[in-house]
Amino acid sequence: MSEQTIALVTGANKGIGYEIAVGLGALGWAVGVGARDDERRETAVEKLRAAGVDAFGVPLDVTADDSVAAAARLLAERGGLDVLVNNAAITGGHPQEPTLVSADIVRTVVETNVIGVIRVTNAMLPLLRRSSSPRIVNMSSSVGSLARQGANDGTTGPVSAAYAPSKTFLNAVTLQYVKELGDTNILINLGCPGFVATDLNGFRGIRTPAQGAAIAVHLATLPDDGPTGGYFDDNGPISW
Ligand SMILES: NC(=O)c1ccc[n+]([C@@H]2O[C@H](COP(=O)([O-])OP(=O)(O)OC[C@H]3O[C@@H](n4cnc5c(N)ncnc54)[C@H](OP(=O)(O)O)[C@@H]3O)[C@@H](O)[C@H]2O)c1
Repeated sequence: MSEQTIALVTGANKGIGYEIAVGLGALGWAVGVGARDDERRETAVEKLRAAGVDAFGVPLDVTADDSVAAAARLLAERGGLDVLVNNAAITGGHPQEPTLVSADIVRTVVETNVIGVIRVTNAMLPLLRRSSSPRIVNMSSSVGSLARQGANDGTTGPVSAAYAPSKTFLNAVTLQYVKELGDTNILINLGCPGFVATDLNGFRGIRTPAQGAAIAVHLATLPDDGPTGGYFDDNGPISW
């Protein structure tokens, strides 16, 4: 591995992902800006570089095997990977009421938010295994908490048969990675950014993208004896 820590942030061209790149770049890390659209990716890389971040573009559509494999090759050529932040996600739009939602919406959301994370993680694992302090941060949401969904107390957002369950699914899949990789030095955690004003929610969120990025930066920079298999927001552990 190179001495400089290398990170990849998926969906880093805007929103919380962009601010995660800012936060990791401020540590002096090299940050791969994973983004599927060439123009949006290059604009973000230029903006980050102008702000002093050692950013580089990584063409990446998390739903496409070829794209993800090419991204892994790009990182290998660039020196490897220490920290993976699986941030890219979609809501799937509307309607999401279980009685109205289309199978296509559910399928597309799971393909991006869950299978996309599996696809990217598995492609990057050979690189992460060669790092001395590998970290995986999966951006989840408190709306994925079954405890909160079950409480039905109004804290888990609108009725959703695709987006919220996709985060529950992601949480469970993440725990399976923790089980399988428990004898490695890879720390794997889930982060919730809070309700952040981004495209994802039509900018209705009440936190800034930089505030939302803080939990991911925290989990990306855990010490070697830090937690693994946790589900956190800025206030600490979230109930599953
Ligand atoms: N905003 C909130 O209040 C909130 C709350 C809880 C959790 N989160 C989570 O935080 C993370 C970031 O959300 P955000 O609010 O910053 O959303 P956002 O502004 O909509 O950004 C989402 C990012 O994901 C990318 N993306 C979507 N599909 C992709 C694909 N197939 N391949 C590669 N990139 C893809 C988007 O790229 P394009 O520009 O190409 O579409 C964009 O860069 C997500 O995991 C979200 O679920 C957000």
